[in-house]
Amino acid sequence: MGKNNTIVIVSNRLPFILGKNKNGKTEVKKGAGGLVTAMAPVLKNRKGTWVGWPGYVEETDIDDNLLAAVESEATGYRVQPVMLSAEELKMYYEGFSNSIIWPLFHDSTDKCVFLPDYWQSYKKVNRKFASSVAQIARPSDFLWVHDYQLILVGEHLRKMSLKNRIGFFLHIPFPPVDTFARCPWRKEILSAMLEYDILGFQTAQDKHNFFECLKQILHPPRIDPKVELAKGVSELFFAGKRIRIGVFPISIDFNEFFLTARESKTQQRAVEMRKSRPETMIILGVDRLDYTKGILEKLQAFRLFLTLFPTAHKKIHFIQLVVPSRREITAYVELKYRIEQLVGEINGKFGLHDWLPVQYMFRSLERNELISLYRASEIAFVASLKDGMNLICKEYCACNVDEQGVLILSEFTGAADQFKRDAILINPHDIEGTARAIYRAMNMPVEERKRRMHNLRTIVASKDVFWWVNGFFDAASKKILSCVEIDPGQGKVFGTGV
Ligand code: ADP
Ligand code: F6P
Repeated sequence: MGKNNTIVIVSNRLPFILGKNKNGKTEVKKGAGGLVTAMAPVLKNRKGTWVGWPGYVEETDIDDNLLAAVESEATGYRVQPVMLSAEELKMYYEGFSNSIIWPLFHDSTDKCVFLPDYWQSYKKVNRKFASSVAQIARPSDFLWVHDYQLILVGEHLRKMSLKNRIGFFLHIPFPPVDTFARCPWRKEILSAMLEYDILGFQTAQDKHNFFECLKQILHPPRIDPKVELAKGVSELFFAGKRIRIGVFPISIDFNEFFLTARESKTQQRAVEMRKSRPETMIILGVDRLDYTKGILEKLQAFRLFLTLFPTAHKKIHFIQLVVPSRREITAYVELKYRIEQLVGEINGKFGLHDWLPVQYMFRSLERNELISLYRASEIAFVASLKDGMNLICKEYCACNVDEQGVLILSEFTGAADQFKRDAILINPHDIEGTARAIYRAMNMPVEERKRRMHNLRTIVASKDVFWWVNGFFDAASKKILSCVEIDPGQGKVFGTGV
C-alpha cells in the first residue's frame, strides 16, 4: 500500500450521526466509539472515501442536501452513505451484530440469540455495503473493511470480481475456539475472513485464537502462525491464496488530545470542574453503556472501598460518565437500570450533605469537555470485562499533561498488553482486589505516579494511530518472504464428520 493509493474505509457507521431530535428537528452528532475516534484522523491525513451508514433509517424524512452539507463541511475526505431500512437495522445491527457477534466475541454467550433470520439479514446487508463499495472503488484503491458488523464484505467484493487489495481490521477481541465454535455460522464466518489479503487483530491472543479456530473448524492443510514476516505478522496459505495476519494495537491521535489538553481554556475548564471540591480527588470512569465495560463491577468495588476505608470518605469522588449506546437492545436497557439503582444505593448509604460519593452522567459530552474532565481527574478507572483495546485509557494518558495521574486498568483490555508495567492492573471480577487498587492509586507517592505516567505517555505518543496505520499498510504491502506448513493441530476438532 503506497502513499499514492487512495483508501476506501468501510465501516458500519460514518463518523457522524444524522437524525431527528424529540422536536422533529434534524440534528448532526459526532459518532462515539473507538472506531470513529481512531479512523477519523487517519482518513483526514490520507484522504480517500469513507463508506458507512449515516445513523438514520431510510424511512426517516431527512433532506438529502443535509447529508451533502455534512460531507463537504466535515472532513477533507469523501463520504459514501449506505442506507439501511428499519427492518435491516433491527435484524443486521441489533440482531446479528449486537445480539450474536458482539456478545459471542466478548465472552458473554449467555446474551447470544442465534436466530437464523439475523444471519440472513447480516449476509444481505454486508452485500449491500459491498455493492456500495464496488460503485466507487477504482482498481488501485486499497479497500479497508472495519469491524464485526461487516466481516462478509470482502467475500462479497470478491464475488463481484473486484481484484483490489482488501484488508480487514477487527476492533473487538477474537474469542477462543470453544466459544467461537458455538456459532452456527462459524465456518461461513471463518471462510469469509480468509477472502481478505490482510487481517488485523488488536492483540497476539486474538490472533492466536483465530488460528486455533481455523485449525479446529476449517482444518486447512497448510498454516503456520509461528512464521513471521515482521513482528506480529504471519502469513498463511489457504485455497490457493496467501493471507497476511497481524497484530496491530489501535491507538489515538496523541497530539490532537495532548494539544487540546494543554490549551489554557482546557486548563481553566478543568479548574472550574474542581472548584466545588478542591481537596477531593476525582476518580473518573468513561464508558459506552455496555455490559462488557464492567460498570457495575466498578460501582461494586467503589462501594466496598468506601466500606473498607472510611478514612477516604470525602477525600475522593467517583465520576462515572456513561455514553448512551444500543438503546433498543434489552440487555443495554437492563444494564442502565441496574447502574442507576446501584449509584442511588451508594449515594444513599454513604453520601453526606457536603459530599456525593458517585456522580453519574448518562450522556455524550463534547470532545473538549471530555478532555477537560480527563485533565481534572487524578485517577482513571477502566474495568472492562473484555475490551478489544480501550481508547479511553490512552486518551486519559495523552491528556495528563502534568504527568501525575494514575491509571487503574483491567487485565482484560487489549491496552493491558501495552500498559502492564505502569498501570495498576486489576481483575474486575475481583471486587476486593479492585477496591484495594483504588486505595493504592489514591495513596501512590508523587514520584511513582510521575514515573508511571511518563512511561505510559511515552508509549501512547510513540505508538499513536498513525504508527498503527503505517504498521497495517506496511504489512499489507511487504514482499512475501516465506510460507511454512504445519500439521492442522492436535486436540479437539469441531465439526468433523458432519
Ligand atoms: P468502544 O469502541 O467500545 O466504544 P473505546 O474505549 O475504545 O470503546 O472508545 C470509546 C470512544 O468513544 C473514545 O474515543 C471516546 O473519546 C469516545 N467517547 C466516550 N465517551 C464519550 C462522550 N461522553 N462523548 C463523546 N465521545 C465519547
Ligand atoms: O469499537 C467497537 C465499536 O463497536 C465500533 O464498531 C462501534 O462503532 C462503536 O463501538 C460504537 O458502537 P455502535 O456503533 O453500535 O454505536
